[in-house]
Amino acid sequence: MSVPDKKKIAIIGGDGIGPEVTREAKLLLEWYASRGLAIDLWELDLGADRFLRDGTSMPKEIFIAIQRECSAVLLGALGDPRIPSMEHARDILFGLRFGLDLYANIRPVRSLADRLVPLKGRGKKDVDFVVFRENTEGVYVGVGGQVRRGTPEEIAINEDVNTRKGVERIVRAAFEYAKTHGCKRVHMADKSNAMRHAHELWLRVFDEVRREYPEIQATHVYIDALCLYMVQDPSQFEVIVTNNLFGDIITDLGAAFQGGLGMAASANVHPAVPGRVGLFEPVHGSAPPLAGKNVANPFAALLTVGMLLAHLGWPEEERRIEDAVADALEAGKCTKDVGGSLSTQEASAHVRERLQGS
Ligand SMILES: NC(=O)c1ccc[n+]([C@@H]2O[C@H](COP(=O)([O-])OP(=O)(O)OC[C@H]3O[C@@H](n4cnc5c(N)ncnc54)[C@H](O)[C@@H]3O)[C@@H](O)[C@H]2O)c1
Repeated sequence: MSVPDKKKIAIIGGDGIGPEVTREAKLLLEWYASRGLAIDLWELDLGADRFLRDGTSMPKEIFIAIQRECSAVLLGALGDPRIPSMEHARDILFGLRFGLDLYANIRPVRSLADRLVPLKGRGKKDVDFVVFRENTEGVYVGVGGQVRRGTPEEIAINEDVNTRKGVERIVRAAFEYAKTHGCKRVHMADKSNAMRHAHELWLRVFDEVRREYPEIQATHVYIDALCLYMVQDPSQFEVIVTNNLFGDIITDLGAAFQGGLGMAASANVHPAVPGRVGLFEPVHGSAPPLAGKNVANPFAALLTVGMLLAHLGWPEEERRIEDAVADALEAGKCTKDVGGSLSTQEASAHVRERLQGS
């Protein structure tokens, strides 16, 4: 049961390091709740362990309860070597992304420390942009098949699905974000020179939607060139919009500018309907080699809490959490992957202490 007037947040730790970093995210949310923030936490036992125990991946009644009662879902990570088919992960992650029609995957690429930017002569002032990744179409739809499997004549096909509606709404979401966040530039990345049918649609839609935002400089760039420009000079980007697959790849490249996957947060939302339930998750996966060792970087998960609270109507908390994480990095109070020597729990506790004092 949800508590009236409180925003209900479903929490799924998931697999590998997921439960460890999500524990820290939950402690942060509990800290906020103890200070009077009107949130109600609902922890769900879903993930590989549950799937292996009783075959449950994403029960329909839980999905419906999330859809009806929750304002947000916080997810750690999914992926377990014991389930090579990834069946449970697909049911949970794609079940929520596709089932709730969370068409915008928003991934900020913002560096919080100069020393974490690996590009020569660049610092955190050069790394501050947001990627809008289309989240419900492309090759992730799973259209395709294999013919003559296991023979030398085998054919393997995955279709790249792009709809007018799908492209238009993500492009518009990127421009709307730029408009409401004071950004002057939007770049759209595709491969329309090679994918003449699917990505010509992106080009045409981008050209139409940009006309509604004459105050914003709109630039088309091929995805391969974008990778080059991102490394040469990331400071030229403010908002990048692209398809599902390219967005997946360039945000890992972006994470490298931030200090690695332990620093990258993300939101999956349906921006056309404000207040609709969103899914919030660190960009990283379950990192099986780190699991159970209390060494995973919790900052991506804590920064994800910031995005979640902004979605719930407390945008100032996103900035406060970022500042606290930046202070922790500055003081070296962080995990090994970002130059410290603290455990997951110690680094996270340090951020809570910083917030307490701010
Ligand atoms: N959204 C998701 O749940 C998601 C996303 C990506 C991958 N996965 C799954 O996760 C599993 C592992 O995939 P992978 O190894 O390609 O990606 P990964 O993100 O788990 O790990 C990639 C690299 O980043 C490091 N890393 C990741 N998170 C870290 C953290 N918090 N702190 C410190 N270092 C961190 C890892 O040690 C590894 O070197 C696979 O099953 C994959 O399918 C899930």
